[in-house]
Amino acid sequence: MNDIRRSACFITLEGLDGAGKSTHVDWIAQTLRNAGVDLLCTREPGGTALGESLREILLHQPMDLRTEALLMFAARNEHLQTVIRPALARGLWVLCDRFTDASYAYQGGGRQMGAASIQVLEEWVQGDFSPDLTFLFDVPLAVARERLGSGRGAPDRFEREGAEFFERTRSAYHERVAAHPARYAVIDATQGIEAIRAVLTQQLGALLILHGYQGVKP
Ligand code: TYD
Repeated sequence: MNDIRRSACFITLEGLDGAGKSTHVDWIAQTLRNAGVDLLCTREPGGTALGESLREILLHQPMDLRTEALLMFAARNEHLQTVIRPALARGLWVLCDRFTDASYAYQGGGRQMGAASIQVLEEWVQGDFSPDLTFLFDVPLAVARERLGSGRGAPDRFEREGAEFFERTRSAYHERVAAHPARYAVIDATQGIEAIRAVLTQQLGALLILHGYQGVKP
């Protein structure tokens, strides 16, 4: 199905809670728009009215782990069918804060469902559709925990999980990168904002040029 997109690109952002991706999402969006890209910026779980309702439930209501995985994919299906695919088909680029890699990492790894169960849901909902580029903001757990502790609101159901959950989540992200290295740009998110922006500039510049744009505007 990737062929319907022509030159449009689907970019996703991933990482542990507290890795710092929220710090960079607006900057990435602005950088792409400055380069002339028509961009849709969205997030998962969420991105549609139904998806945002499911997000509230997912972040705050206790549930069985399979229910959690199914609701993540229910929200994703709605998002994909009604927002992401139509946008890409119209030539818009789509920047999405989390996507299916988060299900492999959090439900597959953190909740120990295993990658095979997630793969079944992925194939059912997405077929062979996947992002063109995924930025993985990677930090050791201690750094993520420290950042989470500093000044955010009450922790949600995921943020309240313990160290072992997040170690498994991070390992599952690393397994995804090892399995599909070409799709990922792994960012050492322990670095300062300027150093991370330099890496992002390089990666986005290459992608823009590949798709016929002149690169990142200074
Ligand atoms: P996020 O938007 O990054 O949270 P915040 O706004 O607090 O930075 O993600 C919400 C949570 O949802 C996050 O803890 C990871 C989790 N999640 C999954 O467990 N599976 C998924 O498939 C997705 C998309 C998110």
